[in-house]
Amino acid sequence: MDKPSDFFVIRALEDGVNVIGLTRGTDTKFHHSEKLDKDEVMIAQFTEHTSAVKVRGKAVIQTSHGQIDNN
Ligand code: TRP
Repeated sequence: MDKPSDFFVIRALEDGVNVIGLTRGTDTKFHHSEKLDKDEVMIAQFTEHTSAVKVRGKAVIQTSHGQIDNN
C-alpha cells in the first residue's frame, strides 16, 4: 500500500467483542480475530493484508466516515 491509511477506533461496550480482519485480494478470508472486553479500545488501520474488518458485538466504531454505534 503506497498511501498510509486512516486509523479507525473500536471501543467495546461489552465483554467478548470480536474484531475480525479479512484478507485483501482475490481470497477473502479471516486472518485475525481479536477479542475485546468491555471498555477495551483497539486502534487499527487497513493494510496491504487487511481490506475489511468485521465487528461482532456491541461496540462504538469511529472512522473517518463517521461513528457507528453497534448496540
Ligand atoms: N497483521 C495485520 C495487518 O497488518 C494486523 C491488522 C491490521 C489487523 N489491521 C487490522 C487485524 C484490523 C485485524 C483487524 O494487516
